[in-house]
Amino acid sequence: MNEFVKIEDREAVPASANARKVFVKTYGCQMNVYDSQRMADALGADGYVETASPDDADMVLLNTCHIREKAAEKVYSELGRLRKLRDMRRADGREMLIGVAGCVAQAEGEEIIRRAPVVDFVIGPQTYHRLPQVVSRARGGDKVVETDYAIEDKFEKLPERDEKQVRARGVTAFLTVQEGCDKFCTFCVVPYTRGAEVSRPVSQIVAEARRLAEAGVREVTLLGQNVNAWHGEGPDGGEWGLGRLLRELAEIDGLDRLRYTTSHPRDMDDDLIEAHRDLGALMPYLHLPVQSGSDRILKAMNRKHTADDYRRLVDRIRAARPDIALSGDFIVGFPGETDADFEDTMRLIRDVGYAQTFSFKYSPRPGTPGADMGDQVAEDVKSARLLSLQALLDQQQAAFMNGLCGRTLPVLLEKPGREPGQLVGRSPWLQPVVCDENVGKIGDIVDVRISKVSANSLIADNREVEQTA
Ligand code: SAH
Ligand code: SF4
Ligand code: F3S
Repeated sequence: MNEFVKIEDREAVPASANARKVFVKTYGCQMNVYDSQRMADALGADGYVETASPDDADMVLLNTCHIREKAAEKVYSELGRLRKLRDMRRADGREMLIGVAGCVAQAEGEEIIRRAPVVDFVIGPQTYHRLPQVVSRARGGDKVVETDYAIEDKFEKLPERDEKQVRARGVTAFLTVQEGCDKFCTFCVVPYTRGAEVSRPVSQIVAEARRLAEAGVREVTLLGQNVNAWHGEGPDGGEWGLGRLLRELAEIDGLDRLRYTTSHPRDMDDDLIEAHRDLGALMPYLHLPVQSGSDRILKAMNRKHTADDYRRLVDRIRAARPDIALSGDFIVGFPGETDADFEDTMRLIRDVGYAQTFSFKYSPRPGTPGADMGDQVAEDVKSARLLSLQALLDQQQAAFMNGLCGRTLPVLLEKPGREPGQLVGRSPWLQPVVCDENVGKIGDIVDVRISKVSANSLIADNREVEQTA
């Protein structure tokens, strides 16, 4: 699961004056964003309404990420701030319940309460359907740690998506179809925090997608730590892969755009590649992390493919869908990485050409094999490699964005812009596009001409070219 989308705070549904309020703060990847919404919905059924700030919250829920050391440490500094806030509220005779969910919760369990006694409950990602019971015990004064992997399916037990909440969240939505990971890359905590791979059944996914479409959602992004390893029994009794599922979802009225993330190179099968050729609704953008361009390092990472396997795969995908843009994740400074290995990564990046990328210094994670490998790379070497890698990736991103200048693109209008009179939408390749509000209304897909490019967004001419939907 990648962390590449900048997660903006969700707009909370306005709270009535006397309802109990919950503030949910989300760290990490899109799957956590999805989970936070499902948790907020479950708490909604329990009488809580979401609030946009911790200041007036009766409960604060941190949905955390364990992927790198920095991500995990953020939680403890936030808990320090929350302790002060809670003490202030107590001085006013009010309470504030504090809960930790997500991957740090799963990885550290009761250790969190030992280190930060302000925490009232800890709940792991597989047990969110038990949240109302956990909260009620915590409100009764117990310290609760709920990180057992539930055998029952959390998705089945969670209440359905609430239509009002979905509407309030806008015209794009995430939908988790697969969770967990069996791949055990030697740097990665996900198989330990999210458990073994589980695919949701077709019927459940289709029903949820329909409800989203009925609530005005136009674009759905299917999520999974290995989303393209998703497989499930279809209504025909046969085993479906992600390509087949996408074909089914493309038939749903109102769902005009489909995306999926994060894919593993080893799970890109022919049917999925052909879906990119056949489905207009499937956006021409694919996040396909490779991590390194050195076969030696790929092997040590347990990625189970070579750099040339990846090059060939990219060729096949581009043959099926020539306008597809690729994004990826890279790790520099994995144990044993030499200058020559790093050069192999730079070469792979030059060969492939990315529209967008996310790159990280290797962070040894407790309990993963990488953390115990000899030959850890010095911090200053990692920093220098990251700098030159990012310079190359920035150049590629700028070249991709500049290539869109002057072109007419279909843009899904998502929300008001920063300035009055603006609307912001997304291009097929995920860039924000700033448009004049007279081009259409939120939820429309309009063709606009790109007249300017800034660092991270595209600016459209202030006239609509032609309405496509
Ligand atoms: N399932 C996805 C990625 C999940 S984690 C895949 O297989 O590609 C998201 C990204 O975080 C990874 O792609 C990797 O680039 C980065 N990452 C994961 N563990 C890391 C670590 N220990 N140090 C630095 N970056 C890491
Ligand atoms: Fe982590 Fe590898 Fe699984 Fe991705 S495939 S979640 S990087 S173990
Ligand atoms: Fe996502 Fe971070 Fe967990 S990337 S799966 S929230 S460790």
